[in-house]
Amino acid sequence: MSLTQKSGKRGRFAKVSQITALNSNISLEVNKMKGSVEQTLQTYQGWDEFYAKEVDKKLDFFKLNGRLFDVIFAQQFDRPFMDYLCKLADMIRLLAKTKMGQKKLRHLLPHKRAMLYFVQPSTRTFLSFQNACYILGLSVSESRGTSTSSEVKGESPEDTIRTFASYVDLIISRHPEAGFAEKTAWVLNQTDRPVPILNGGSGPDQHPTQALLDIYTLERSFQHIGGLDGKKIAMVGDLKRGRTVRSLSYLMKNYNDVTLYFVSPDIFRMKDDIKNFLKKRNIPYYETEDFESVMPLVDAIYMTRIQKEYSDDPSSEADTYPGFHFKKEHLSIIQPHCTIMHPLPRRYEIEVEVDKDPRAAYWQQERNGMWIRAALIAYIFRVEREIFEEFS
Ligand code: CP
Repeated sequence: MSLTQKSGKRGRFAKVSQITALNSNISLEVNKMKGSVEQTLQTYQGWDEFYAKEVDKKLDFFKLNGRLFDVIFAQQFDRPFMDYLCKLADMIRLLAKTKMGQKKLRHLLPHKRAMLYFVQPSTRTFLSFQNACYILGLSVSESRGTSTSSEVKGESPEDTIRTFASYVDLIISRHPEAGFAEKTAWVLNQTDRPVPILNGGSGPDQHPTQALLDIYTLERSFQHIGGLDGKKIAMVGDLKRGRTVRSLSYLMKNYNDVTLYFVSPDIFRMKDDIKNFLKKRNIPYYETEDFESVMPLVDAIYMTRIQKEYSDDPSSEADTYPGFHFKKEHLSIIQPHCTIMHPLPRRYEIEVEVDKDPRAAYWQQERNGMWIRAALIAYIFRVEREIFEEFS
């Protein structure tokens, strides 16, 4: 008995040590893969020339039969499209209020599959796209980091995206590099299986679907006072590295008599490319560091976070810039109809006590993202008519 026990113990110990050795070999291999395999750099003839073109000159490349196919830049959206999409989002929102309506929506696209490729952190964009897909009945696959895909073995991002296209009908991407969504759409559009790419944020460059939900939120906030035309909007915070304010500024080309106030610390001023875009289209803008002087003037205040993740040395950026925070005491200075927005996540830019004020729109704003993204997906797959017919 005792011998058997000893033997049993020896056996177990032997097994454990074998497993430990096996595990450490696996770890070694994984570490080797993580540490030593760089992603393959592929050369695509013609890409550099295409990328260097002005955005206006490449918009047609991302269309199919005169309609949007890939969504890469905010400049792709014109006024009729914006109005149409906002109306469609309203219809989807209304339908989703009932069980019957939800069932109708779910039966629109059960034959389609989407890939969410989010290799830069996200909460809202990921969840709102995922739930927009569920609302319309699409199946969803996801990858939330390069360390669990074959990119860890050195596969290029372009081949990775091409692989997704082999399995799904739509790719939604978030990536830390500017130009990533554009390049992958450009690559896919030259293959025999192009699928639409929706840009869910590309580095500090653009976030076009955030701009869609921001416009939708502004239009809803101003629905009883003439919509967004003629309004004054303050954008506050890190305007230099914030992609949401960049994309939203581009969309102002579609609205009449809009005035922008860029409120930021000097080091985070809006970049010249956006200011030149606005000048070219005669959209007035002012720049200031005096937030309180702007508060009573505007119809909307769009707060943003300091985007430390794009700093070469984030630990050196300890300042939270309190002069650019919206506090409870400011509620008495702003106009009674002024809407307070934020793409979120927030840090210290808006005091929590502000949340209770009816003018605080940021929690509705993030939910609006789900409706407008569902509208966009319905548009991409051409099922809008079925939605509008429910109301005819
Ligand atoms: N607004 C926005 O893009 O939020 P997430 O980073 O959480 O997606």
